[in-house]
Amino acid sequence: MTIPAHGAGRDRPVLVVDFGAQYAQLIARRVREARIYSEIVPHSISAEEIAERSAGAVIFSGGPKSVHVEGSPRIDPRVYGLGIPILGICYGAQLIAAELGGEVSRTGVGEYGRTVMNVRRPSLLFGSDEGDKAAGTSEPAERPVWMSHFDSICSVPEGFAATASTAQAPVAALEHPERRIFGVQFHPEVAHTPGGQAVLERFLYHGAGLAPSWTTESFIDEATATVCAQIGDGRAVCGLSGGVDSAVAAALVHRAVGHQLTCVFVDTGLMRQDEGQQVIDAFRRSQGIELIAVDAADRFFDALVGVTDPEEKRKIIGELFIRIFEETANRVDGAAYLVQGTLYPDVIESGSDSAAKIKSHHNVGGIPEHMDLELVEPLRNLFKDEVRSVGCELGLPDEIVWRQPFPGPGLGVRVIGEVTPDKVALLAQADAIVRAEIAAAGLDREVWQAFAVLADIRTVGVMGDERTYGQLAVIRAVTSEDAMTADWARLPDQLLEKMSSRIINEVAGINRVAYDITSKPPGTIEWE
Ligand code: XMP
Repeated sequence: MTIPAHGAGRDRPVLVVDFGAQYAQLIARRVREARIYSEIVPHSISAEEIAERSAGAVIFSGGPKSVHVEGSPRIDPRVYGLGIPILGICYGAQLIAAELGGEVSRTGVGEYGRTVMNVRRPSLLFGSDEGDKAAGTSEPAERPVWMSHFDSICSVPEGFAATASTAQAPVAALEHPERRIFGVQFHPEVAHTPGGQAVLERFLYHGAGLAPSWTTESFIDEATATVCAQIGDGRAVCGLSGGVDSAVAAALVHRAVGHQLTCVFVDTGLMRQDEGQQVIDAFRRSQGIELIAVDAADRFFDALVGVTDPEEKRKIIGELFIRIFEETANRVDGAAYLVQGTLYPDVIESGSDSAAKIKSHHNVGGIPEHMDLELVEPLRNLFKDEVRSVGCELGLPDEIVWRQPFPGPGLGVRVIGEVTPDKVALLAQADAIVRAEIAAAGLDREVWQAFAVLADIRTVGVMGDERTYGQLAVIRAVTSEDAMTADWARLPDQLLEKMSSRIINEVAGINRVAYDITSKPPGTIEWE
């Protein structure tokens, strides 16, 4: 594929117009995978705003409504006159057809899931036979695609060509290459549409004439300059949790302003085995970042004496964490900026109520307002996978870049019942074995989270000739895309056997191991 040299950095974004689709984020990610910067915008955006943003292209997402329903989401129709290339997906394609003079009808027969589509070429989105042959990418005229629609486009607006059809959809794709307006009824963004990414790339590179210039390196350079401009010669603080987001944010800000950044690491005593030391080594030693490490384990254990209720534990741990962070940050003279690892999905979701609730549960406490620090959020335009690439590029170690999600309250919510130093020590050992064996089996990137839980019961066993009465460890391993839903991981028998026997042999006090086979819903990933 030849690609014209016309950049699409942040100054020339591809705007994904959200019509209420579950896939808007996925579309934006796929565009970025094509190395072109994209952002999600609401459908209420005006044509002027789109023009002012110097959009390189606009993509209309799908949506749950019919274009025939009163009040279905629309877009400022002047967008079609801007000369900016447009691709409509599913509902977006129907909207283009309906608004530009084609016909969208209720055939009474929808298509859901895998569907066979016939392509008519030449077509800009599907390529020409000759072009494909020359490039060695010949694609069949008949190809499977992923559909999810009820209405169908029956006729195209004037000047458009229908370039694909299916048994139920006479127009499964349409295009007007001169006006640079395109539509597809199927979902090129989902993994179930083989070759979907190539269709998106043809639109971006050939339809819109954009070049793949959004790279990790270009992001780092741009973000460094932005952070320098924001902080100037001020001082910044950053709370490191050990997780990838705060780690990458800190490394980036350090690259920009060096010793003007001080990181604070509060060791709650509830972290995984060796994790505290790993964080200190990675930041202080390897990155040369100024780091204040506070060993606050005793304060956390004292505060948790006699507490068994999970929400009560979360509250106590969260509040104490903030208090210690604040005490420590106040020791950094003249700190005026607070670095946070906010990501793009947090930014997009912060509008919706349900998302807000999820966050208040997960961001254990917030930084108190009276601290009066200006936020520095260098990752607020990035998806998680991009944050990981930035982390690698900045030289952070794999254990941090690929670290699995870990709850703020740490092992405090994985010791069921009262949290004591002894129980945490037992759990940390069992948990380290689970994670080491998952890694040894090469499954650590396939499994979303794998860990051990220490149950609040004791069971009878026999070891040697001795009767034992010990603790129960539960192994939890799940696969997931986003933690909203999850399935229990089908780990190989031998792996489970190895984890079980190692835990029982190596962790004195645990005499039984169980494997949790509950999905989410109805369960949750954590036990508390
Ligand atoms: P659940 O247990 O709700 O977990 O299925 C979903 C994801 O969120 C993590 N989690 C937390 N993260 N503070 C956090 O920062 C918390 O209190 C918390 N509780 C759960 C959990 O590990 C999983 O990734």
